[in-house]
Amino acid sequence: MYCTRKVTDDLLWVGANDRRLSMFEGVYSVPDGVSYNAYLLTDEKTVLFDTVDKAVVDRFMENIEFGLDGRKLDYLVVHHIEPDHSSAIKAIMNAYPEVTLVSNQKSADFIAQFYGYSDASRTIIVKENDTLNTGKHTLRFMMAPMVHWPEVMVTYDETDRILFSADAFGCFGALNGALFADEVDFARDYLDETRRYYTNIVGKYGAQTQALLKKAASVDIRMICPIHGFVWRKNLDEILQPHDLWSRYEPEEQGVMIAYASIYGNTENAAEILACRLRDRGVKTVMFDVSVSPASDIISAAFKWSHLVFASATYNAGIFVTMDGILQELVAHNIRNRTLALMENGTWAPTSGKLMKELFSGCKNMNLVGEVSIKSGVKESTLAEIEALADTIAASF
Ligand code: FEO
Repeated sequence: MYCTRKVTDDLLWVGANDRRLSMFEGVYSVPDGVSYNAYLLTDEKTVLFDTVDKAVVDRFMENIEFGLDGRKLDYLVVHHIEPDHSSAIKAIMNAYPEVTLVSNQKSADFIAQFYGYSDASRTIIVKENDTLNTGKHTLRFMMAPMVHWPEVMVTYDETDRILFSADAFGCFGALNGALFADEVDFARDYLDETRRYYTNIVGKYGAQTQALLKKAASVDIRMICPIHGFVWRKNLDEILQPHDLWSRYEPEEQGVMIAYASIYGNTENAAEILACRLRDRGVKTVMFDVSVSPASDIISAAFKWSHLVFASATYNAGIFVTMDGILQELVAHNIRNRTLALMENGTWAPTSGKLMKELFSGCKNMNLVGEVSIKSGVKESTLAEIEALADTIAASF
């Protein structure tokens, strides 16, 4: 049975939720599920914005049939070809023989690559600022490359001032009946998952997100309709402002994230002592055991906090394996503009500190303020070094 929600008088949410997916994109845990949003505009012409993942395609097709109420579908606007949004393109093209696909050239190429579908007679290729009039509404297409694939575009409905923003401004988590962000306590319950979604999936492409934010600022937006998460119709700054910070790689909070990799508990002990000494000095701290916490939580926290401390055991003459993975990922996500401190541990040849430093040397504006080297476990002499590091970090705020 169809399950839809009205967005405006002539716009219907026709997406669906998936709470059985364990790993989004095969790598990100989604304990609260995920929504795949699609929207149906019923103007003089009817327009479907995006499709959904194959897991929810049956409900999606029922939703469209309900929304069309016997009318034909005129256009399918495709913003993004990642399969969680494009899996049903072929099904739509087959089910609605009169529909015309509206996309940019790159999307058309990717649709052919992924699905073997290509029909120039049923496709309109659009470019930056091209418009499509559907009766009352005028839709303007704006390219948003690398937010977060190269073919991504967004649509601005000039009539109702709605931005259909593709992956941008989305969030992990199924919609539990609430489609609009103002129906939930977003800051309390969803900001963390929004950060985890943005930083892990789009975080590498801060410059491109900034370019999209500039385009968004050039038009009067009253509503944002992303393809995951909530529709925004109030307090748009609540979603735009954190994205501005994250995409400029500026921290949201002053404080220290300590992530450690410990084999027998000695590196953990050093990290715990540092956290206590920082709290003694009035500094906020959060801690992660990188062997236990999901990498996506740590990437997200690294984007949130102003100061980062990484403490790692040495393993096979290198950085401990779980820490190595996190740091490679963090560097790949272009982390920058942080105050950094490193702690290494090793019994006969500690090397993890030097190797972590080398990894961060490729990042912009990482201010390394201290390093501590531990031989097997913390001694009285190391305690003094940790105290000194706490002093240095506290003085750097
Ligand atoms: Fe939700 Fe980039 O796909």
